[in-house]
Amino acid sequence: MAQHFEPTLEYAKSLDDQDILFSYRQRFYFPEHEGKKSVYLCGNSLGLEPKSASYLFEKELKDWAKWGVEGHFHAENPWFGYANQFSKSLAAITGAKEPEVMAMNTLSVNLHLLLISFYRPDKKRFKIIMEAGAFPSDQYAIETQVRMHGLDPEEAIIELKPKEGAYCLEDEAILAAIEAAGDGLVCVLMGGVNYYTGQYYNLKDITAKAHEVGAICGFDLAHAMGNLPLQLHDWDVDFACWCSYKYLNSGPGAVGGIFVHERWGNNPDTFRLAGWWGNNEAERFEMKKGFVPAKGAAGWQMSNAPVFNMVGLKSSLDIFDQTSMKILREKSVMLTAYLYFLLQNLNNLSFIIITPEEPERRGAQLSLLFKEKGKAVFEFITQNGVIADWREPDVIRVAPVPMYNSFEDVFRFYEILGRFPG
Ligand SMILES: Cc1ncc(COP(=O)(O)O)c(C=O)c1O
Repeated sequence: MAQHFEPTLEYAKSLDDQDILFSYRQRFYFPEHEGKKSVYLCGNSLGLEPKSASYLFEKELKDWAKWGVEGHFHAENPWFGYANQFSKSLAAITGAKEPEVMAMNTLSVNLHLLLISFYRPDKKRFKIIMEAGAFPSDQYAIETQVRMHGLDPEEAIIELKPKEGAYCLEDEAILAAIEAAGDGLVCVLMGGVNYYTGQYYNLKDITAKAHEVGAICGFDLAHAMGNLPLQLHDWDVDFACWCSYKYLNSGPGAVGGIFVHERWGNNPDTFRLAGWWGNNEAERFEMKKGFVPAKGAAGWQMSNAPVFNMVGLKSSLDIFDQTSMKILREKSVMLTAYLYFLLQNLNNLSFIIITPEEPERRGAQLSLLFKEKGKAVFEFITQNGVIADWREPDVIRVAPVPMYNSFEDVFRFYEILGRFPG
């Protein structure tokens, strides 16, 4: 594909002509605006509905009608092992071994369950590192986990802030903070991609540095999952969790997932809160006393699979299985670079892009910080058929998603922004 960009519709269309993922767009429903597909740039918040989802939902409803409780074993996708079917695809997306991942619960719940296992402070090591201004759920989860251990959040939580005047953290500053915390540090918990700035952190180096000082390292992958290729196993990440309703297109409140490195997952002594579904599967219905954890991430499961909440994930992963994160990422880098280029051609608006300029330090999303009239710009683009995302106090987040967005979508966004009367 071309490296030199042009700010014209013809050029955008020519990039679409070369896009091997272009037809994937047909597999999703786009909200409409005045009878046309809207410019949907909000997959970082809620991904679009795969057209196959309704068929799959209906299939489960029919199996429920046909089988009643026997559907646990006789439904076409037996509900007993329903969650297990996702591990292969989730492992490919996260760069994990299959037993290291499991679809379960929702993100904030999983974050707590994993912190129960991996934030284990003692008198000497009790500090946890996170990003200042992380997504509120992460802030509240860490704050309350710290309190649960009888510690003071002011003392136990080290928040990493960008340098004066900057919006993103420098990689070296993150590593230096971990080193400085040294043997007082028990855990690092960062986002994979920061929800506000769109900055993609260096997960490999952060993990290595955390291990160097004897700490555990985990990530909230809400904005990284399905957005960038990951190598969680090879990077030696200890744990991670994600939601599936953003880049994974699994629908509002869809089931989330976890990664637990095999060195923890295969150790029955790794402490976790237990439920019957995390018990050794072969003995699940023996109703015996004494929890014997299943191997791998499966041993963190609590409850039987919420099948209807997993159907969206199934319809979406079926599509992911037909391509790869490598192919998606190649397009994503181009798509976001084109958006970056076009935005720099606008001179009727007063904003800066706070997402890093280097493609390797960001995913699909760009965050536009408005010095003035941000809300008015957001309302204007909304009225003109753009679906994007407003974050108080002054940021518009836009994410062209390689699975279903076109270069023409990106161009239309630019063209609408260019019409803002000021
Ligand atoms: C970074 C991050 N963490 C946590 C959450 C909370 O997710 P959930 O409501 O699925 O628990 C979100 C939701 O958007 C998020 O973006």
